[in-house]
Amino acid sequence: MKHLLKLLDVTGEEILEILNLADQLKYETKHGIEHHRLKGKCLGMIFEKSSTRTRVSFEVGINQLGGYAVVLGAEGSQIGRGEPVQDTARVLSRYVDGIMIRTFGQDEVEALAEYGSVPVINGLTDFCHPCQVLADLMTVREFKGTLEGLKLCFIGDGNNMMNSLIVGGLKVGMAVSVACPEGYRPPQKILDFARQYDGFELTGDPMQAVKDADVVITDVWTSMGQEEERQKREAAFKGYCVDEKLMAAAKPDAMVQHCLPAHRGEEISADVFEANASYIFEEAENRLHVQKAVLVKTMGGE
Ligand code: CP
Ligand code: NVA
Repeated sequence: MKHLLKLLDVTGEEILEILNLADQLKYETKHGIEHHRLKGKCLGMIFEKSSTRTRVSFEVGINQLGGYAVVLGAEGSQIGRGEPVQDTARVLSRYVDGIMIRTFGQDEVEALAEYGSVPVINGLTDFCHPCQVLADLMTVREFKGTLEGLKLCFIGDGNNMMNSLIVGGLKVGMAVSVACPEGYRPPQKILDFARQYDGFELTGDPMQAVKDADVVITDVWTSMGQEEERQKREAAFKGYCVDEKLMAAAKPDAMVQHCLPAHRGEEISADVFEANASYIFEEAENRLHVQKAVLVKTMGGE
């Protein structure tokens, strides 16, 4: 795999290969088995948005693989002063062996890959969050034993998380239902992809979407960069809280996932969050293992 820019570029088989490698690396990590598969390699990390999990899991991950990271923020680098991504790509490619980027526009990530000569990994854009969804799928498979044939339901905003879950879930053979208010639906490109699959459902009714779901996932109503819309969004998403009433319509053994950070009392109730904490924090841990698998798949070391 050359890059990980979005799950639309990756096959279902490749997703499963990443998950298999992530499971293996998780086992090796837990058993103290050293795996310096990227010895001496440098990962450049660019952050134009805040991060806790992505930042730490990638940095710890590349270190556990025998490499190291250099971190660039928009502030404190020339990126924040407007240096074109095409130039940043060609410069960084001469110093580092791979680049992870978290930014706003998907076009910036695509340009980085086009103009640079090293693997590029998308650590979140407004359009998608592929690394997070790989960790979600890994976690679901860990707890449920399989992915194929399960029903995954996402309640909330047609944002980066919903987009990647639709694509990733459908590609690995899950049924995917999503509930979002009018005006907050996924972009046409995602809907065009999803409509090729019989197992896809889009509705404005959370109760309908969650019916018989094996996995229920939600995310913040206001994503990074949308802070000015917070009030408007709070009104639009009323009735979209994943709470006990909603969960009663899912399968009795349904599990809940949340990419974090979570806003209790908004997209998820405190009760449902705590009842599912063991799944949610395993999901957060799995970012580390999946990140390492993605680094190995893109930067060599298999
Ligand atoms: N879920 C996730 O990507 O978390 P961070 O924003 O903390 O990286
Ligand atoms: N949708 C959220 C995800 C954060 C990990 C955001 O983009 O802010």
